[in-house]
Amino acid sequence: MTVNSIGVVGAGQMGNGIAHVMALAGYDVVLNDISEDALQRAITLIERNLDRQVSREKITQTDRDQAMARIVITQELPQVAQTDLIIEAATEEEAIKQKIFDSLLPHLGENTILTSNTSSISITRLASRTDRPEKFMGFHFMNPVPVMQLVELIRGIATDKETYDTCLGVVEKLGKTAASAEDFPAFIVNRILMPMINEAVYTLYEGVGNVNSIDQSMKLGANHPMGPLELADFIGLDTCLAIMNVLHDGLADTKYRPCPLLTKYVEAGWLGRKTQRGFYDYRGDTPVPTR
Ligand code: CAA
Repeated sequence: MTVNSIGVVGAGQMGNGIAHVMALAGYDVVLNDISEDALQRAITLIERNLDRQVSREKITQTDRDQAMARIVITQELPQVAQTDLIIEAATEEEAIKQKIFDSLLPHLGENTILTSNTSSISITRLASRTDRPEKFMGFHFMNPVPVMQLVELIRGIATDKETYDTCLGVVEKLGKTAASAEDFPAFIVNRILMPMINEAVYTLYEGVGNVNSIDQSMKLGANHPMGPLELADFIGLDTCLAIMNVLHDGLADTKYRPCPLLTKYVEAGWLGRKTQRGFYDYRGDTPVPTR
C-alpha cells in the first residue's frame, strides 16, 4: 500500500516530533489535538527545531519551508481520519487512546492503517476494539524524535504482513531503523530502560547516592548521554510511572514495583521538564537537583 498522508493525533512532546520528521520526509501531515494552544505550541516548536537543523546544515532552507507547508493543524478529529496512516500519540492512558480510536472509527478511510505510539500498552487489546485489527500496529518513536534513530514496530496478534511492510517502508523513508518487537508489556526499549530508571530512583530513595552522584555515575561510568534521573525528567515522570505500572501489572513480577519516590514526585505534579520540576528544578538558568 502506498502512503502519502499521515495523521498524527496528539501534538505533545512525541506528536510534534512525529509531524516534524514525517513532513521532512515528504509526507502530507494532518496534526490534531483537542487544544488549540497545544497545536500552536507544536507548530512553533517544529519551526524552531527545523531552523536548528538548517543552521547546523543538516537540511536546507527549502527542505524546511517545504516541510512546514506540508503540515496542516486541526482540532477536528474526523479531518485526520481520511489520511493513509494514522499515528495516535496522545497521553499514555488506555482510556484516552480508546476514546480517540472510537471517535475515529466512523470516519476512517477504507484502507487507512491505524497505529499507536504507545510505549507500553497492549497493541492486541487496542486493535481488538477497532474494526480493523489486521490493519493496526504499534509505531513507537523515541524522544527526541528528530534525533533518535530507532522506531519500534510492534505487531498485534492479528496484524497482517501488508500492514507491517507498509509501516516498515515508512520507517525506511524517514531514514530511521526499525526494530521489530513482539506485543508484550513495554516491548523492547522500555522493558529494559524503565527498570533501570526505576532502580536509579530506588538508589536515590535508599540514600545510596544523591541526584548528582547517580547521574554522574551513569554518564561517566557507563557512557550514557544522560544520567537516568535527568532522562526520567526528559521523558516525563508520569510516563515513567505509567510504564512501570504496565510492567508490574502485565508481568506480575515484584521486580517491576514502581519506586514509592517516583509515585510521590508524580503525586506532587513534579513531572520533570514539562512542569519545570522533577528530579531537577528547571526554573532557573541551570537545573538544580531537588534532592
Ligand atoms: N529536534 C531536532 N534536533 C535536535 C533536537 C530536536 N528536538 N534535540 C536535539 N537535536 C539535535 C541537535 O541539533 C544536535 O545536532 P548536531 O549533532 O547536528 O549538532 C544533536 O541533536 C545533539 O543535541 P545537543 O548538542 O543540543 O545536545 P546533546 O548532545 O546533549 O544531546 C540528546 C541531546 C540527543 C537528547 C542526548 O542527550 C541523548 O541522546 N539523550 C538520551 C535520549 C534518550 O535516551 N532518548 C530515549 C528516551 S526513551 C523513549 O523515548 C521511549 C519511551 O517510550 C519513553
